[in-house]
Amino acid sequence: MADKTINELCETLIEKRKKAALGGGAEAIAKQHEKGKMTARERINELLDPNSFMEIDEFVEHRCTNFGLDKTRFLGDGVVTGSGTINGRLVYVFSEDFTVMGGSLGEMHAKKICKIQDLALMNGSPCIGIKDSGGARIQEAVNALSGYGNIFFRNVKASGIIPQISIIAGPCAGGAVYSPALTDFVFMVDKIGIMHITGPAVIKAVTGEEVTSEQIGGAKAHNSVSGCAHFFAKDEAECYAQVRKVLAYLPSNNMEEAPFVDTSDDPSRMDITLREAVPTDANKGYDVRDVINKIVDNGEFCEVQEFWACNIVTGFARIGGRAIGIIANQSRVMAGCLDINASDKASRHIRICDVFNIPIVTFEDVPGYLPGINQEMGGIIRHGAKLLYAYSEATVPKITIVLRKAYGGSYIGMCNKELGADVLFAWPQAQIAVMGAEGAANVIFRKEIAASEDPADTRNKKIEEYKEAFANPYNAASNGYVDKVILPEETRPALYQALMMTESKSEIRPKRKHGVMPS
Ligand code: HXC
Repeated sequence: MADKTINELCETLIEKRKKAALGGGAEAIAKQHEKGKMTARERINELLDPNSFMEIDEFVEHRCTNFGLDKTRFLGDGVVTGSGTINGRLVYVFSEDFTVMGGSLGEMHAKKICKIQDLALMNGSPCIGIKDSGGARIQEAVNALSGYGNIFFRNVKASGIIPQISIIAGPCAGGAVYSPALTDFVFMVDKIGIMHITGPAVIKAVTGEEVTSEQIGGAKAHNSVSGCAHFFAKDEAECYAQVRKVLAYLPSNNMEEAPFVDTSDDPSRMDITLREAVPTDANKGYDVRDVINKIVDNGEFCEVQEFWACNIVTGFARIGGRAIGIIANQSRVMAGCLDINASDKASRHIRICDVFNIPIVTFEDVPGYLPGINQEMGGIIRHGAKLLYAYSEATVPKITIVLRKAYGGSYIGMCNKELGADVLFAWPQAQIAVMGAEGAANVIFRKEIAASEDPADTRNKKIEEYKEAFANPYNAASNGYVDKVILPEETRPALYQALMMTESKSEIRPKRKHGVMPS
């Protein structure tokens, strides 16, 4: 038989590629679209810069023969993998293909993902996983479980070195959820993204509780109740745009700086309306995001975990084109008290900023820790300790701005000088004290108030006395605990200068394997 011509050989390759590109076939693709879901390749194209994707391993097939699986083979084995660019920067991506055996994960599928994880880590570039899978491929038994183990191991190995992002755009169930949980940011798409350990049927059988998948595993549930997701998107297009936006604040790896972006917003710009942004009456609430928006470049604030633990606000922004991470007490939710969830949320964000060399800016207006049996018995001691730990551990520039209240332990918890704030600013209405004036007067002047002829009047006088002494930033400033008291409108230029003066900060700590973070 004559050798095939090069054109015939090329034609074979082209046909094979076409077949691979169809995943589970036209019918399965139509079903995927009927469910309101993009295909694995459509997702990658939406996420990456146009024409930047190079697929690898498109001809990989499983090698399982159990339960007749040898007769069901698909090129690519249910996951599309490769690299491309986002905003011109290299990223690695894998996208599970539900059209192939429900995107289920077997030995070879997992090997493809691991190859991408390894390449991402070796090349110091972000790794993005799009999840849409029925979980461990049942026919492949322990080989599938081994695949998950290999993925988890790599998630942990890469943690703190490259950004790892998970997008939940379909089912993600059982132990499979632990790969997203080990990554830095989990994005969920409303209606189609589902993440749970055990589904409604198992829950009903074991505990008798009746619940829907959406209630325990949907994008709303994980973004607003469990805190397992960080971003909520109404549809896939919005989700991929969010991922692109977040990556723009992050360096490609822990050895690099976050990219500089020319925002054309003058760092010395002052906004006089900041004087009205925080009421001087310590009992009045306000939205701290209004304060942040007036200060950061072009009012662009990228909020992380917007719908969970809303008493604290976390996110990214820029000052003078440089990325910053923000932690801010949210006065209008629970008066900005710290509780279990707020401590978890903030400490995680601090650690993410620290590993990726992003300076941390803290806006502080905190009355204290939330009182209550639930909080005490839920472990506010160990959760609250995470905040102290994360701030103390972080070696990136740390700048704190006391907007108003900074009381007691929470004053320390929101990064005072002792926890390593390199620069601590305070606004004129700042009150840095052990507690609010009313509580303080009740304790220290209790006997005097009780013994007086007019206890109510004496009490008011004592409150005023205490306010005069401590409900201001000057007592702390006189002791060097506040570096500078600033006018509200000076915040943006002051922050820019503080970032400049700490730009080359370098802090060397004693050598250790790793600390033991409270958990
Ligand atoms: C093999 C699977 C599969 C799986 C789905 N399929 N999940 N094949 N292993 N885990 C196949 C289906 O048989 C079907 O094949 C095709 O994928 C599409 O699935 P459908 O059920 O038709 O789709 P849908 O109705 O949308 O339902 C999706 C689903 C459901 C909710 C994900 O398929 C499902 O419940 N699957 C099983 C989930 C599960 O229990 N997985 C194991 C989790 S435990 P055909 O040929 O009919 O098209 C786990 C452990 C991980 O993952 C441990 C890590 C440490």
